[in-house]
Formats: sequence, structure tokens, C-alpha cells
Amino acid sequence: MSLSKADFDSIQSELEGKNPRTVLKAALSQFDNIAISFSGAEDVVLIDLAYQINKNIKVFTLDTGRLHSETYRYIEEVRKHYQLDIEILTPENSPLEKLVSTKGLFSFYEDGHKECCGIRKIEPLRRKLSSLDAWITGQRKDQSLDTRQNIGEIEIDDAFSSDEKTLIKFNPLANWTSAQVWDYIEAYQVPYNKLHEQGFKSIGCEPCTRPTRPNQHEREGRWWWEDSGHKECGLHAKNS
Ligand code: ADX
Ligand code: SF4
Repeated sequence: MSLSKADFDSIQSELEGKNPRTVLKAALSQFDNIAISFSGAEDVVLIDLAYQINKNIKVFTLDTGRLHSETYRYIEEVRKHYQLDIEILTPENSPLEKLVSTKGLFSFYEDGHKECCGIRKIEPLRRKLSSLDAWITGQRKDQSLDTRQNIGEIEIDDAFSSDEKTLIKFNPLANWTSAQVWDYIEAYQVPYNKLHEQGFKSIGCEPCTRPTRPNQHEREGRWWWEDSGHKECGLHAKNS
């Protein structure tokens, strides 16, 4: 199903500033062919809220092959807790083998994360999104002053749309702060990634994520060897 421009505009103004549950309800009522993109970090809140609206919610995660073992265990914990089939997407073999065979396993420290993220995250994501009409992410404005300040509750995802299909993206947590996410996790006792107990705030792949000090912004723990303006891996290319 695709939305007309008029429908999109009307939903956009209806959802502006609304709480995550309202945004999720609208997303799930507008689209059947929709899924949550679950990163194995704190956006389990999306799953918890969506599960209360529709127990058949579809969830996928991008297994880059370089996640922390805590993240793999956490994905499994969430799968069991909600009795959900989490679709686990993996990168294509041949470009990955070519990259690691020619440039080694840590080329991103030398020439930037784009190539590795392109193979391990973006290609599998593109493949998945080509089968969906809309997707739901846990992005928040407060995650990045450089790239996420302008995200909306609903957006047209130009980066992954095609001539045949306009892909819609929902960001139900757009206006929530990290503190609100953690209040929710505590109040409703939802499972969380144990790395958060070791000082990790924003969690991605193991070699590209490190804990942050209390006075550091969460994004400083990601791709710390690169400029802050480049801290998007392409999943949310629309923001860059
Ligand atoms: S990233 O682009 O820098 O890696 P970030 O970690 O901030 O993204 O997460 C923002 C949102 O992107 C998550 O809430 C989730 O919806 C999606 N996302 C990030 N990483 C993954 C992943 N490995 N699998 C699925 N979705 C992901
Ligand atoms: Fe590769 Fe790091 Fe990107 Fe993960 S975050 S896909 S290891 S460059």
C-alpha cells in the first residue's frame, strides 16, 4: 500500500509532537507490510509498545557479524521474552569476503566506516526494505545534534524509495529523550542490552563502539576516530 501526497501530509500534521504509542498505532493501522528495525540496543521500547497493539508485529535486525556477544544474547532474550520471530539479516557473502580478504578485518580504522557499513548493513537493509511499504526505527532527535535534529514522526524515506515505490519511515521515539526511554525500560521492566551496565550508551558493532563517560554525548562512543558530522552509517542516509 502506498500513501498519496495528501494522505501523507495529513498524517504528518496529525502525528507531529505525538507520543510514541500514538505514532505506532497510526503506523500499524495504515500499513500491514511494515516492520520494526531493531538494533539490539534500547529501542526494545518500540517492540514493547507495538506488541501491545499487535502481537504479530514484524521485527528484523541486521546482524553485521561484528556485534558484541552481549548483543547477540540480548536479541535472543527479546525473541524469547515476546515470543517473536525476529528476522535476522546477514550480509552477502562475496562482497564481504572480498573486503576482508583484500583489506583485512579492521579496514574501517584506516579508510572510514562507509565501505564496511555498506556491505554489512546497507545492502541487507536495502534488500529488506525493498519488500516493505514502511519501516519503523528507534531514532531520536537527541541522538545527534549534527544529523538527527530534524527527523519527523513520519517521513518519506528518499534514500530507500524506488521509482516503483515510495517507502515510508516512522520514528515514534523522535521526540523522546534517552532519559524517557530509560524510564520506560525501568517502569515496565523490559529487557535491555547488558552492555548498558558497562557504560555503553549508543551501541553498534563491537569494533566501532565504546563506552562513554557521563559527561560525553552518546554518539561520541560510535566511530570515535571520525568527525562527528560523519557519524551516520547510511541506514538513515536521509539525515545526512
Ligand atoms: S546507526 O545508523 O548509527 O547505526 P543507531 O544505532 O543510532 O543507528 O540506531 C538508530 C535506529 O536504527 C535504531 O533504533 C534501529 O531502528 C535502527 N538500527 C540501527 N542499527 C540496526 C541494526 N543493526 N539492525 C536493525 N536496525 C538497526
Ligand atoms: Fe563495519 Fe563498524 Fe560499520 Fe559495523 S559499524 S558495519 S564493523 S564499519
